[in-house]
Amino acid sequence: MRTHYCGDLRATHIGQTITLCGWVHRRRDHGGVIFLDLRDRDGISQIVVDPDTKDSFALAEQVRSEFVVKLVGLVRARPPGTENKDMPSGEIEVLCKELEILNPSETPPFQLDEHANVSEDVRLRNRYIDLRRPDMQRRLRMRSNVTSSVRNFLDENGFLDIETPILGRATPEGARDYLVPSRTHPGHFFALPQSPQQYKQLLMVAGFDRYYQIAKCFRDEDLRADRQPEFTQIDIETSFMSEDEIMNITEKMIRGVFKKHINVDLPDFPHMTYHESMRRFGIDRPDLRIPMEMVDIADLMKAVEFKVFNAPANDPNSRVLVLKVPGGGEKLSRKQVDSYTDFVAQYGAKGLAWIKVNDLAAGLEGLQSPIIKFMPEAVVKAVLERVTAKTGDILFFGADKAKVVNEAIGALRIRIGHDLKMYTCQWAPLWVVDFPMFEQDKEGNVTSVHHPFTAPSCSPAELEANPLAALSRAYDMVLNGTELGGGSIRINKADMQSTVFRLLGIGPEEIQEKFGHMLNAFKYGAPPHGGLAFGLDRLVMMMTGSQSIREVIAFPKTQSASDPLTEAPGTVPAKQLRELHIRLREPVSEQKGEQAGDTGKGQQ
Ligand code: AMO
Ligand code: AMP
Repeated sequence: MRTHYCGDLRATHIGQTITLCGWVHRRRDHGGVIFLDLRDRDGISQIVVDPDTKDSFALAEQVRSEFVVKLVGLVRARPPGTENKDMPSGEIEVLCKELEILNPSETPPFQLDEHANVSEDVRLRNRYIDLRRPDMQRRLRMRSNVTSSVRNFLDENGFLDIETPILGRATPEGARDYLVPSRTHPGHFFALPQSPQQYKQLLMVAGFDRYYQIAKCFRDEDLRADRQPEFTQIDIETSFMSEDEIMNITEKMIRGVFKKHINVDLPDFPHMTYHESMRRFGIDRPDLRIPMEMVDIADLMKAVEFKVFNAPANDPNSRVLVLKVPGGGEKLSRKQVDSYTDFVAQYGAKGLAWIKVNDLAAGLEGLQSPIIKFMPEAVVKAVLERVTAKTGDILFFGADKAKVVNEAIGALRIRIGHDLKMYTCQWAPLWVVDFPMFEQDKEGNVTSVHHPFTAPSCSPAELEANPLAALSRAYDMVLNGTELGGGSIRINKADMQSTVFRLLGIGPEEIQEKFGHMLNAFKYGAPPHGGLAFGLDRLVMMMTGSQSIREVIAFPKTQSASDPLTEAPGTVPAKQLRELHIRLREPVSEQKGEQAGDTGKGQQ
């Protein structure tokens, strides 16, 4: 129907008669002449409808925002002084010869350029309109382009795109499963994949050597700005490659994508161990754009009488540390400092001690702080020296269990970096390596830091002897404090895999029932293999400068994991439930706070 896209018209088209199709972005009546901003996926062109073209003019008078129209017109230069430099097609306009209304529109629930004042719920409920916004079009186009470049790169490097099942067995990645009841096997359920992890390893056993898939993954977990219940991975697995080779090739892919699509040359990717990252930044995905780090001072606090510091200083599971904010004494108001105390409290910190260095040369007199009265002068001096404090700085202190301090002061570091705009560069990538194999949850259970297929860097006997000290052959790619991707060299031998399952507290029968297929596969020549998966949504979120992955997903879920547009999840007719061998419990009784209908025969 059309000869050109609106957004593509330039001065080179002047003099041509063209046909455009699109949506009326805005209509302006300038007494006698009507201007239409016509929009399609490539951008906007200004259309002039003159009263001389009578029929078209009459139609243009009826046209409103979001009408779909087709028009034939002549491209001409805008009159001098009326060019619009902010618009790619701003040098030209189209004089309308024939206008046709293809479909009218009711008044949309919100104007496209007023989306900022509209709640996300309204945007998602009317997503087909929200997606018309040029920003959303740009982001989804970027996503398409990035996916295409990733495919090209992997195709050129000998990776095969192989699909794996969506209906399958649970694969543990640390979240709850989405389950699908089986009609043909009463009481049995498929699990939607949290990742294609097991299948991609089986493809290595099958000899495919290099696999990839742009894979949908499903995880029923608490949602955040960078997490969705349904998301997409660039999933990769290789045989006979070391961790360095895997990191090199995937780093090359990410570099290529940044260069091609946003013209960014990513700097070097340093490799940092997990332990170093935790010690310096309190987190395993450090934002290296912020030039501040934690400095331990427990050794200086062992003998002070101030209990807040002294107790954790003498506890091996605790930390006492300082975060120095250069110039922060001058830049941060008292109100801000107090607000940081509230901020760290969200992470369980019991307080936030500080020292403001008003005049370093003046000794104790030059310091302002709620805590120095509790400490000998020599200790205060040693702290100032250790962090090379200068006049104008402020030091924040964290003292508690290591987990609390790491989370609280780690988050404070990001917050202050943001508040004081301390970023030293735009992009700070790195690889985090040498993760522990296991960690302990609140109940003291041993859990995998990555997933149970990750290979340790020691023998089964050494692993068994001291599981919590063992390191894994895992690696995460981190960019600006976001985990873009993660992977590992895998276990390819049944004895090691059984040892790991055992250490995770999975009994022999359960191992056989859940993972027997993996252990069997390892009996028949499983090659050394490893891989990694990137979060495609997160990658595109960062490349487009978006605040949430919902901005780069066409139809995302809300924070409560529902879709306001289709109102999924929905109820289903009783007949369908019967076919699936499912009987629902009665709704939860709000008064008693107990399950009124829980008669013990709930789910079949
Ligand atoms: P992992 O669980 O680290 O590893 O996931 C890989 C990457 O996927 C992205 N990601 C998510 N993105 C959006 N919403 C979510 N809920 C979500 N969860 C994860 C992140 C993350 O880095 N099978 C392994 C990979 C491997 O070992 O090869 C795995 O899934 O960017
Ligand atoms: P208190 O003795 O509780 O009044 O605390 C004295 C100072 O130490 C206050 O500035 C508190 O904010 C701070 N503080 C208390 N507990 C901690 C902690 N666990 N870590 C860091 N500072 C703390």
